[in-house]
Amino acid sequence: MEVLASGGNATDAAVATALALAVVHPVAGNLGGGGFAVVRMGETVAALDFRETAPSAAWREMYLDASGAPRPEASLVGGLAVGVPGSPGGYFELHRRFGRLPWEQVVAPAIRLAEGFTVTSRLASDLESEKALLARFAASARVWLPGGTPPRVGSTMRLPRLAAVLRAYAAEGPGAVTAGTRAEALVAAVRAHGGIMTVADVASYRPVWREPLRFRAFGWELAGMPLPSSGGIIMAQTLGLLERVGWARQPAGSVQRLHLLAESWRRAFADRFLLGDPASTRAATEHLLASAWLDRRAAEIDPNHASPSTMVRPWTPGPEEAPETTHLSVVDGEGNAVALTTTLNGSFGSGLLVPELEILLNNEMDDFATAPGRANQYGLVQGEANAVAPGRRMLSSMTPTLAWRGVEIVAIGSPGGSRIPTATTQVLLAVLVDGAPLEVAVAQPRIHHQWMPDEVLCEDGEASLQAALIRLGHRVQVRPRLGEVHAVRRRGNGSLEAGADPRGPGTAAVLPARLLESAGRPNPIPSRRSERLE
Ligand code: DON
Repeated sequence: MEVLASGGNATDAAVATALALAVVHPVAGNLGGGGFAVVRMGETVAALDFRETAPSAAWREMYLDASGAPRPEASLVGGLAVGVPGSPGGYFELHRRFGRLPWEQVVAPAIRLAEGFTVTSRLASDLESEKALLARFAASARVWLPGGTPPRVGSTMRLPRLAAVLRAYAAEGPGAVTAGTRAEALVAAVRAHGGIMTVADVASYRPVWREPLRFRAFGWELAGMPLPSSGGIIMAQTLGLLERVGWARQPAGSVQRLHLLAESWRRAFADRFLLGDPASTRAATEHLLASAWLDRRAAEIDPNHASPSTMVRPWTPGPEEAPETTHLSVVDGEGNAVALTTTLNGSFGSGLLVPELEILLNNEMDDFATAPGRANQYGLVQGEANAVAPGRRMLSSMTPTLAWRGVEIVAIGSPGGSRIPTATTQVLLAVLVDGAPLEVAVAQPRIHHQWMPDEVLCEDGEASLQAALIRLGHRVQVRPRLGEVHAVRRRGNGSLEAGADPRGPGTAAVLPARLLESAGRPNPIPSRRSERLE
């Protein structure tokens, strides 16, 4: 709000917010991780990939022991789990191309927060639930568990070393983090805990502008994230299948709609098995989104019965089987929009904090297919295209998305691992097809299917629909919460609207037009849930 009120555009606001989250939301945010952004600035639609990469010394069997058995913890905790961070370069590049305010002004709020911010109940409870992970690393515990426990709610948290990193980042750009003594400190922390990353890996990391995935559905124009995220492909396939099977004609909230969603996702996630980094993918995006392929997949869908997942794509479970992300959406008064999702993967990533920098490092390496047949922490089984290889980007499910029709534009996305594309798609369908207000759309109960395991996940409170799904041949499991969607939009009449998912403590706010015009101190009029602005 502050950045928009002082004349910044949607990109300035998105980058400033992402950097602020890197300070106050260590469970997910994010200088030691990576992410994706889909933006529309003026007439330009663009997609930035700042996904982590595998270190140059990575190898295919690095998460197997000498006998070939998986070592699941190695890709989740400690130095070997860490992918080469993409965020320092990513935020800078996003601002360089599309920002309007000076870079220092965009980094300033994060510096101020690192000098001292108030501990919220969400932060304290996040730390409490991951105490055991953080306690395994002395530097992480020293910063985030002072005296062995999370800091008290309402107390002031100070991160002086992170503030110094951010001041250098403001003055010098990404090299302040990715080269010289700070890069050496980062690599030393990784290597001291079993990692293989080098200073050259960190220094040579580059974010990549990719052609955004553009498609039309239900009368709207959409832009999603292409590979190495599977999110845009899953959404485009799903919406294409739903158009073909007449989803919009079924009553809102009906079991028919849920069944058709589950059947579409079953097929889209089955194709995800073929996907990986753009250089290693086993299926071309154009083929997966071609009308002929969607027609064939749509024809397979039986409106009255679930298809077994193994018939959609054969797969045999392997011999053995053994989260945290944040999304933000910004639309500014000119209709520019940014949907940005960043992640450390699991909560607090690998648990490892670089002591000199007070930056937590990701465990994104677990998003690779780390062992044949082993599902990752989201239960996803993945194929050869996503095997570990030097420099490769691990396949993601993150789904930052823009949708527009005339002057209307929606920016949307979610955390939640494999549930990201399904949660985002359901909210988007409620908005684009049913015309639901954002706050209603983000709150509606959701379901999820990801091909394997062959089951529909349902949120609580849907007992009769669950019974109906079982009658159609689905296996049903209940989960308390599927994703956490955040969306903003400019409506046809130019007014602005924001919706934050009641499942989490995220917030939504609309800055009144008169404040956008004045250069005065921001005083945003909160939307319904914004009293919890953190
Ligand atoms: O890129 C991905 O798909 C995962 N690393 C995202 C992880 C995530 O969303 C955790 N969130 N709660």
